[in-house]
Amino acid sequence: MTLQLRVYVPPHPLIKHWLGVARDVATPSVLFKSAMTELGRWLTYEAVRDWLPTEEATVQTPLAPCPVTLVNPQVPIAVVPILRAGLALLDGAQTLLPLSSTYHLGLVRDETTLEPSCYLNKLPERFAPETQVLVLEPMLATGGSIMAAMAELQKRGVDLDLTRIISVVAAPVALQRLSAAHPELVIYTATIDEGLNNHGYIVPGLGDAGDRAFGT
Ligand code: URA
Repeated sequence: MTLQLRVYVPPHPLIKHWLGVARDVATPSVLFKSAMTELGRWLTYEAVRDWLPTEEATVQTPLAPCPVTLVNPQVPIAVVPILRAGLALLDGAQTLLPLSSTYHLGLVRDETTLEPSCYLNKLPERFAPETQVLVLEPMLATGGSIMAAMAELQKRGVDLDLTRIISVVAAPVALQRLSAAHPELVIYTATIDEGLNNHGYIVPGLGDAGDRAFGT
């Protein structure tokens, strides 16, 4: 069986709403940050539906013993926000994954070459086996940063079969690069846009997500 990249655009009214708010150039920074938090929350909710490890147990209700399903705390869950813009999705993702560990990865792209370079890497030397990783990268544009992030994760023992990417706006070129290199990945995104302009920005997109989230 040949693997194929899976890209999900959940048809959720709250995801559509907060994407609309984030796209609007008139949205002030404080509301843009809220919109990204909400997108982080609802896209994570959708992404962990069939991914979060659970275990069966029996608890005692006030009336009787009862079989229940609980989140399995033994399986390590790592959240990797790609700075800066990935930080804007973090609060929403973390509220749903309170037992996760967060590892920051700072990548900045050269505005001329569009190539990413790393300025902060808080990834562990080696992830524990079976670690499930959720990568937060709101703008999948040229694909440079996400490809660099995947290489860093693989170097540190992450199984990309267990990895999911949360994005807000994805461009076809980034999805094509991911599909060619890592078809085992699963992506949850609020939308897939038309393409990129000459400066590598997604059109129609939402502009510079980092600048808008942090008011810079
Ligand atoms: N990064 C952004 O913040 N926006 C884009 O459109 C592309 C990359």
